[in-house]
Amino acid sequence: MGTVILGTGSSLPKKTMSNFDLEQIVDTSDEWIRTRTGIENRRIGGKGEKTYQLAAQAARNALQMAGVEASELDLIVVGTISSHMIMPSCACYVQAEIGADNAFAYDVNAACSGFLYGLDIADKQIRADRQAKILVIGAETLSTRLNWQDRNTCILFGDGAGAAVLGYSEEEQREIIGTNHQSDGSLWDLLYMHNAPSMNPDLRVENDGDSVIVMEGREVFKHAVKAMEDSITGLFEKTGLGIEDVDLMIPHQANMRILNKVIERLNFPIEKVFLNVKNYGNTSAASIPIALDESNRDEKMKRGDVLLFCAFGGGLTWGSTLLRW
Ligand code: ACO
Repeated sequence: MGTVILGTGSSLPKKTMSNFDLEQIVDTSDEWIRTRTGIENRRIGGKGEKTYQLAAQAARNALQMAGVEASELDLIVVGTISSHMIMPSCACYVQAEIGADNAFAYDVNAACSGFLYGLDIADKQIRADRQAKILVIGAETLSTRLNWQDRNTCILFGDGAGAAVLGYSEEEQREIIGTNHQSDGSLWDLLYMHNAPSMNPDLRVENDGDSVIVMEGREVFKHAVKAMEDSITGLFEKTGLGIEDVDLMIPHQANMRILNKVIERLNFPIEKVFLNVKNYGNTSAASIPIALDESNRDEKMKRGDVLLFCAFGGGLTWGSTLLRW
């Protein structure tokens, strides 16, 4: 008994951009992208698909699955680094859009770890108030934050949103078992957003060059692998569980080479890892909840299964979560 996920939802932009489409924009190739990252396609938002709109649709889908009304929500937390405005928050837009009149709402800026940090907040809030119903969302439109002339970064990311409704359950064998989150701000310059705009009304593929993601790819790679490996190992130590107890791992879908390295170093069976990075690229804070919703709707897990999430992103931020479904 404890904090549980009552329902999941996701929402993806309609437009697909393939590696072949990218060949028309920058000097790259499908072969380079696939072998370096495992990515084949990503979704790119268009008009009417702002971050909060994708987030609100993911939220509606999660609420419907949970059988929870928007008016029952006490709190909305959105992990995002690409809201169309910095103030108001994406979460406040979502709150208005879905009519969650009794909820307070705010964003978490933790890049790709945003959804896991949000789950942690929800868990602690629900432990303090067992009646609370909390909506945690990861939502991004990173296509609006990329330099589309920079082949080092623009090939990696995609847009989308995923959501989970959390509450308290008396059922045995269902709970968030533990989390192990960390940050290291001293390494901020390995991955950051330069000159983020305060307002970005329309999603667009073109970028004025003013606000872009800057990344030291190789350094990020090294830190990502080590941080996720250490975080998971530390979480096992904290909880007394091990790889053999995990039924399904849903990692941040960063890129296949990073994930392969983490899996290899942990000696984790790949058949127990949910992967969809090939279809959506790296959707930052949205990647875990989109993957969670897909695996849930495809019935990849059953009651009582142990799920492992892990993430790494700009900040630097990283962490892992174990929950009994
Ligand atoms: N197409 C073709 N060539 C390219 C491309 C591209 N899209 N991008 C870079 N290259 C070239 C480089 O210019 C370089 O050419 P050079 O040798 O003539 O200078 C060559 O390919 C090799 O470049 P490297 O940077 O050494 O390539 P590497 O093998 O390290 O792969 C990559 C680059 C995929 C970015 C890798 O470093 C990586 O995965 N880093 C992690 C980045 C990441 O996933 N960030 C996401 C955010 S953090 C997170 O979510 C975990």
